[in-house]
Amino acid sequence: MISQNITRLINEQITKEQYAAQLYLSMSAWFCAKDLDGIANYFRIQSKEELMHADKMFDYLKDVGEQIILGEIAKPPYEFTNAVEIFEKALEHEKIVTKSIFNIVKNANDEGDFATVSFLQWFINEQVEEEANASQLVSKIKMVCDNPSALYLFDQELATRVFNPQTA
Ligand code: FEO
Repeated sequence: MISQNITRLINEQITKEQYAAQLYLSMSAWFCAKDLDGIANYFRIQSKEELMHADKMFDYLKDVGEQIILGEIAKPPYEFTNAVEIFEKALEHEKIVTKSIFNIVKNANDEGDFATVSFLQWFINEQVEEEANASQLVSKIKMVCDNPSALYLFDQELATRVFNPQTA
């Protein structure tokens, strides 16, 4: 039902989503070590969401009867200069993921593979939301990073985030 080219691109995207999960978990660990548990919670949930994205693609390949081939997941960075750098890297990473998703959509469109185009519509919408959230958090962390009281409140705000598998 779908071409080997699209199957390969989706298999690669599964690995990219799994890498994103590793990256965000590593960022979470950095904040844990700084006792900023609310921000650590935010990235921990972000990591879980990325695994859900990989699972959605896994299930799609299963549904269309194509072979699922998992790739190697690179070791994520674990040393960061400061909190602002982490949020900036998270935004940068989301932009890379968006480009990668768009590339699959373009390939699927060119091949007249409208099932894959339709499947990926959810991811296109998700990326708009993820980039908007990441961008807003870059602005916020820049506002609060030099003010311990403000940083405390920001940490409290991110502590309220909960994982929702239905929307991940
Ligand atoms: Fe799976 Fe954050 O994009």
